[in-house]
Amino acid sequence: MVERIAIVSDIHSNLEALTAVMRDIDRNRVSKIFCLGDLIGYGPNPNECIDLAKRNFDFVIKGNHDQAVGWKIPKVFKETAAKAAYWTRKRVKPKLTKNAATQQKRWGFIRKMPKTQEHGTWYMAHGTPWSNLDYVYEEFEAAQVFDADRSNFRVCFLGHTHIPGLFLQDGDVVHYTDVEDGIRYKIGAEKAIVNVGSVGQPRDGDPRACWVLGRSDGSFSFRRVEYEIEKTAEKIYRTDLCPSLGERLFDGE
Ligand SMILES: [Fe+2]
Repeated sequence: MVERIAIVSDIHSNLEALTAVMRDIDRNRVSKIFCLGDLIGYGPNPNECIDLAKRNFDFVIKGNHDQAVGWKIPKVFKETAAKAAYWTRKRVKPKLTKNAATQQKRWGFIRKMPKTQEHGTWYMAHGTPWSNLDYVYEEFEAAQVFDADRSNFRVCFLGHTHIPGLFLQDGDVVHYTDVEDGIRYKIGAEKAIVNVGSVGQPRDGDPRACWVLGRSDGSFSFRRVEYEIEKTAEKIYRTDLCPSLGERLFDGE
């Protein structure tokens, strides 16, 4: 029997996008939900997204923003991202309050995220298998992932770019394919890298939340889901987070 698994990534504390995606996932009868990282950072609802992930996801890989909140904000972060990571840390890190036990569990969840995961012939990471800061946008970057492969994966699923896409390895050549939602892609003898796109902050010009329905027969499809962007943006405008983090959601940029 073909196993159906939801793969989500880059939720970025966007509760409205995550809730809409969870409704779509429910309709698609999956047995597991894998998350490729950046659960938090940028958006206004980190604690709510952590609780939802703890209840529903099989694992969450440590994204660069999860790491920035839970550990140290890297120097390569731009000011908007660094300030958002600091804002998020203030809300997630435990304090001596009535909710200390709950916060401790949320903080532990962020700090114990794995760097990579495998499932059958699938390999999963945030940016690349060796770094959650490196991107795979271009064919030469995908070729480096194929060349470095030590796990004999058939499909490598990645987050981080916020742009859905597909790379196929055909002998020594790597081809990039722009992808569309609703089309079923099937992997043959070649290997593939799938950029799964972003739930909470898409950057491909389509503001709808994005997730991937993967199947154990080697096929997968991209799903796009509308959500209440106005509500998320309004919440951002009412905080100290940079207003551009709300504005960009409308354009999917
Ligand atoms: Fe991200």
